[in-house]
Amino acid sequence: MGETGWEETTVTEAQHNDGRARVPTDAERSALLTAAHAVRQRAYTPYSHFPVGAALLTSEGAIVGGCNVENISYGLTNCAERTAIFAAHAAGQLGTPQTGPRIVAIAIVADSTAPPTPCGACRQVLAEFGRDCIVICANLRGDTLTMGLDALLPHAFGPW
Ligand code: THU
Repeated sequence: MGETGWEETTVTEAQHNDGRARVPTDAERSALLTAAHAVRQRAYTPYSHFPVGAALLTSEGAIVGGCNVENISYGLTNCAERTAIFAAHAAGQLGTPQTGPRIVAIAIVADSTAPPTPCGACRQVLAEFGRDCIVICANLRGDTLTMGLDALLPHAFGPW
């Protein structure tokens, strides 16, 4: 016990890996990027003019896309990532940490200088359904940044 009265513990990868985490194959990665580019065309962005597409892969092999949908009351905007997650859940493609299919990976595409990383809210929602997922960020020039959600949202608050 240290001076502050609490002891630091280390949470290992194994402790928060739900057993369905894995790195997507090259074919899956390519399919996710293609789907994210396609669904980006459906973005509703009259205010920001910044369309974003996202496509996720579930542990049962489903690919589900989403785009950002804005609103005149700006704060009600839904990001592409959360649209994809909610659409996947509504379609019965995601489940609970204990029983259901999980998010294996998600690709995000936007016309940004650097590859677009998900906002904090989307990181938290991703963690709910894919604590160990791989996040593939790509801009239209083809620059990509790929990392685990654990690097984007360490020590996440979650139901696992
Ligand atoms: N946006 C996303 O859809 N995903 C992100 O990761 C970052 C931001 C959207 C929200 C808004 O419609 C527009 O991009 C500008 O912030």
